[in-house]
Amino acid sequence: MNLKFCIIFSFLLRNVIARGGDRGNPLSSASDLGSPNHGSVGSARQLFEDNQSRHSRTDIARGYMTNSELEKAMKEFGRRCSHISRIYSIGKSVQGFPLLVIEISDKPGKEEPEPAFKFVGNVHGDEPVGRELLILLANWICDNYMRDPLVDLIVDKVHLHILPSMNPDGFSLKRRDNANNIDLNRDFPDQFFHWNDDEDARQPETKAIMRWLREIHFTASASLHGGALVANYPWDGSLDKRKNYYACPDDGTFRFLASIYSKSHHNMSLSKEFEGGITNGAAWYPVYGGMQDWNYIHGGCFELTLEISDNKWPNAKELPTIWEHNKMSMLNLVASLVKTGVHGRVFSSDRGRPLPGSITIKEINYTVQTGRAFSDYHRLLVPGERYEVMANVPGYKSKTTSIWFKEEAVNVDFILDPEATSEGTLQRSICDCDCSGKRRFLSMGYFWGIHSEVYLVLIVVLAFLCLLLRRRIKFNLLKHRQSPKRSVPV
Ligand SMILES: *[C@@H]1O[C@H](CO)[C@@H](O)[C@H](O)[C@H]1NC(C)=O
Ligand SMILES: *[C@@H]1O[C@H](CO)[C@@H](O)[C@H](O)[C@H]1NC(C)=O
Ligand SMILES: *[C@@H]1O[C@H](CO)[C@@H](O)[C@H](O)[C@H]1NC(C)=O
Ligand SMILES: [Zn+2]
Repeated sequence: MNLKFCIIFSFLLRNVIARGGDRGNPLSSASDLGSPNHGSVGSARQLFEDNQSRHSRTDIARGYMTNSELEKAMKEFGRRCSHISRIYSIGKSVQGFPLLVIEISDKPGKEEPEPAFKFVGNVHGDEPVGRELLILLANWICDNYMRDPLVDLIVDKVHLHILPSMNPDGFSLKRRDNANNIDLNRDFPDQFFHWNDDEDARQPETKAIMRWLREIHFTASASLHGGALVANYPWDGSLDKRKNYYACPDDGTFRFLASIYSKSHHNMSLSKEFEGGITNGAAWYPVYGGMQDWNYIHGGCFELTLEISDNKWPNAKELPTIWEHNKMSMLNLVASLVKTGVHGRVFSSDRGRPLPGSITIKEINYTVQTGRAFSDYHRLLVPGERYEVMANVPGYKSKTTSIWFKEEAVNVDFILDPEATSEGTLQRSICDCDCSGKRRFLSMGYFWGIHSEVYLVLIVVLAFLCLLLRRRIKFNLLKHRQSPKRSVPV
């Protein structure tokens, strides 16, 4: 993420001094927002450094995978690890590179009542560490499946999607922007400023991500950047464009998730610049049109922006060490989808079928939608607290239940009753009608007297059918509910 609305030359300056990159002080550029004292000295320096860098640039990528090498590595991974993965494309870059994704799961490509996580690397072309780490991550998971319980948890209970490079053109040009000179992390619709709401005008890489979120119901994600060492969380933008802490409704949960990353990291949490190695985006420097806030607002997806290396182009020899520094962070962040919050499914009480609806938490102004196929929900929360969880489905009576999420994730299935007008009443009324019909028969003494045997048989048959129907409904309910852990039905 990193650059602000800063004056162009400081932008170039920072890109150009590839080492030390975006670094924590984008704000040598934050000061850019307001400070007038960037004069000719700066420009001269920029020219000089630009010229210098042209030469050193050819070298900085030495040891890093080229785009075609990355594609080859992904396909090799796909072959080697086909039992727990698949490779697919979500679109193409401006210059026609496929935007390839690795999905890792014990049932890749199949929908399951499980949360999905995505990693997106190389959003900025000149921040290539993430794309290297993501290939190492995929291979490490493949090598340690059935050996490491954390990996088993991820493969068996999560669908992990990995897009190593969102900006392959920027990478081959060794610059931040894509081939149309657009910063992809400023190209999403913004919640405060609407200069960018025309979807057709957006970059193909941005559109691909937006389509992807409509297809896959992601619970959380992280994009990987370079130039600093910190886990950044929403909001990235603030209404007044000031550099101030701007909390989103899930501030606590985001701080918790960001801390999982920083605390599991070699030394991110020891940061002198960011307390605990985490930061609210707007408190660092506001960003508009960023991918992170858009994911949370429109995708129902809790996204972090991870700055994983102070140096944007560390010597490629350092990559294995940087991977070791980030390995547990990456694994723990993905596993947190299963280990934290409240999870479950939503069913109708009449036929036990999954109901598409939404989940809200009292006093948090944010709605999580259920998955389309299974009506499963995955609501991340801060541990150690009590919550009121409410399930809402149009045409059904909402239900609220109180949970105490201590350390282990809580499972709650909701079973909702139809409102009077919904089709569900039809099902119920058949049974009710039969039963009350029984009473009507009984009151008709005249017929009773004449055909008593016939009616007796009829009553018994009807009662039996009624019982059978009710049992089948219960059975259906049980059959549909097969969450990984035993759920408490509500
Ligand atoms: C840029 O680099 C070239 C090649 O080293 C050199 O000849 C030229 O003088 C440099 N220009 C500036 C403005 O430094
Ligand atoms: C973290 O470790 C790396 C490599 O050992 C070092 O370069 C960096 O300065 C350290 N950062 C902090 C905040 O301790
Ligand atoms: C809740 O959030 C929505 C935007 O998602 C906003 O329009 C609304 O005003 C918020 N409600 C409260 C009570 O803050
Ligand atoms: Zn970046």
